[in-house]
Amino acid sequence: MGEQRLPPSYTDYLDADSVGAPDFLRRASPGDFGDAPLAAERYTSREFFELEAERLWPRVWQMACREEDLPRAGDALSYEIVGHSFAIVRTDSGRIRAFYNSCPHRGRKLLTGAGHHPHLRCPFHGFSWTLDGELRTLPCRWDFAHVPEADLRLREARLDTWGGFVFLNMDDAAPPLADYLGVLPAHFARWRLEARWKAVHVGKVIACNWKVAQEAFMESFHVIATHPQILEFCADANSRYDILGDNVNRNLTAFAAPSPHLGDGASPDQTLRGMLGLLGRPATGLGPGAPRAALGRLVRDSFQRAYGGDWSRAADAELLDAIVYNVFPNFSPWGGFAPNIVYRWRPNGRDVDSCLMEVMILKPVRDGEPRPAAVPFRLLGPHERWSDVAELPILGPVIDQDMANMPLVQDGLHASGTGRVHLGHYQESRIRHFHARIDALLGT
Ligand code: FES
Ligand SMILES: [Fe+2]
Repeated sequence: MGEQRLPPSYTDYLDADSVGAPDFLRRASPGDFGDAPLAAERYTSREFFELEAERLWPRVWQMACREEDLPRAGDALSYEIVGHSFAIVRTDSGRIRAFYNSCPHRGRKLLTGAGHHPHLRCPFHGFSWTLDGELRTLPCRWDFAHVPEADLRLREARLDTWGGFVFLNMDDAAPPLADYLGVLPAHFARWRLEARWKAVHVGKVIACNWKVAQEAFMESFHVIATHPQILEFCADANSRYDILGDNVNRNLTAFAAPSPHLGDGASPDQTLRGMLGLLGRPATGLGPGAPRAALGRLVRDSFQRAYGGDWSRAADAELLDAIVYNVFPNFSPWGGFAPNIVYRWRPNGRDVDSCLMEVMILKPVRDGEPRPAAVPFRLLGPHERWSDVAELPILGPVIDQDMANMPLVQDGLHASGTGRVHLGHYQESRIRHFHARIDALLGT
């Protein structure tokens, strides 16, 4: 089917670039998951949600936080997922551990939110534990002589790290994180997210199923109707969609190149000016050349000044394009060298019809300088918009446009006359991959 796509291909853009992209970005890897419609009730039914709660969330590696969220021993935060809760703790040895966030006495949650705790203590009756989860004190110990010490220890969950992210898994039989992530670590080796710092972390509860929100960020097909203001400098329908193993896929969309929907209606000058507007830069200091080469050089030079180091081999694509990876089930880090966007979507508690969407921005650290402390999480209120976040000057208004769809997608799925969703064969292949993986876990 690929031959029917609109030229030029994303790879054609890479071939023409002034500083070329690495091979792993050039290689196309389309997937084919058939063309059957999806059932609308996958997004709306309590039964499907309960299957996910029972068979999906307890068996996958999920991104819980950043390592720099816990800079010192005793820093801790809680991570919540469909009724499960974990206390993630930096121990005295510097290691990060995850414990079930539940007192072995009568079950009280031990931690809420983020804080600093020299040891962990349950506020109900005052049992306490070391940061490694060993019982430390127990008031009226004589009354618990019948409980073995091992049963009073905090139960631990598997935890591992990659790219500065902390992942946990409730399934003791799951494959190691490194296997689960497949090609991801190799692809991101150049971009070194572990050396970046979390400069923005904002979230909002959205009135739609967690999959509806996530899928709004898995294709560039919607740009033509939802974000028409970027068509002059976003080659939306030329995008590449790659399936990279069981748990990883990606979308590559060229920026500083016009949408093929505009035909002859876009000039290089419009593309250049539009992209400069997006980057918030005046059109001064631009050398000669096509928009991608000129803008690539502009961004490369400005990163060189801002962060030091050697940016000469950073490809135009790595400085300009949307290089959006998705790791099953709900984690989406952007590749490339520009400040990296990271998305995460989770059900809002046990609600089928709402979710928590989070956006992080990871920024480079200036050469030779220490990594700044991560910013605290900011939850937007029901009436706050993403464009109210001063740190999201470019992205905020774009996400607000996506927001205008999501609750109405959820309403429309409930109101579906056919009970079906029809996906595009190629441009929505990542969504199909995502659902194939869900089916494999759920047995549906
Ligand atoms: S419930 Fe935690 S100490 Fe009693
Ligand atoms: Fe969008």
